[in-house]
Amino acid sequence: MIRQKIVAGNWKMNGSKESIVSLINGLLEMDGSSSEVVVAPSFPYLSQVDELISASSIVLAAQNVSQEVKGAFTGEVSTSMLGDFGVKYVLLGHSERRSLYGETNELIASKVKAVLDFGLTPMLCIGETLAERESGKTLEVCEQQLQAVVDVVGIASFEQMVIAYEPVWAIGTGLSASAEQAQDVHKSIRAFLAKTSESVSQKVQILYGGSVKASTSSALFQMPDVDGALVGGASLDAKEFIAIVKTAG
Ligand code: G3P
Repeated sequence: MIRQKIVAGNWKMNGSKESIVSLINGLLEMDGSSSEVVVAPSFPYLSQVDELISASSIVLAAQNVSQEVKGAFTGEVSTSMLGDFGVKYVLLGHSERRSLYGETNELIASKVKAVLDFGLTPMLCIGETLAERESGKTLEVCEQQLQAVVDVVGIASFEQMVIAYEPVWAIGTGLSASAEQAQDVHKSIRAFLAKTSESVSQKVQILYGGSVKASTSSALFQMPDVDGALVGGASLDAKEFIAIVKTAG
């Protein structure tokens, strides 16, 4: 099954109006790519980035969203608000949302439903901590995180979603999982989904995230079950991010 590669940049809580102009201008120098290139700025910059990328093939993502449709939810942002700014993907379940802001599998599943209901594409982040990996629980953890979403939206919905496997121990540490480690887990994620739907398991794009750099991305992208990358720190450097995109082919 041929799956288009996605290279997405999660800018996290970084950037300013000024720095974003130079970052996007740097990315706009990129010549065409067969991969889908995605950027995920913080909420306040969605409008600016939407405009800056409007004449390009770069796609916009948000880093979070409320599970509520609208109303008295101070400080929250709804799916329709993201839709106003041309957002296609919504990152959900990022380990920082889980560990720092207490987002549970159940809350994440409700956010996935809200995003699907509005017609945007969830980019569902899953992954284990170092302690979970060292105790052999990697697959158990990832499957629990996936099952919580399957229970709410059903397996067929995964055709309208992207999965990002982000081992927590590789995020922001400079210590990427090896291409083989990533392939092992991605293959297992696909096998887990295939228990319920072979076709969904083959269609869903599974990205790797966790200290991706241009020096490591080529080996990752050669793995049969790695369909791209969700890049953090390296996505804030236009040259490095473009170099990663180039290794995706
Ligand atoms: O969402 C991607 C992010 O968690 C990975 O961050 O800095 O390790 O590439 P980084």
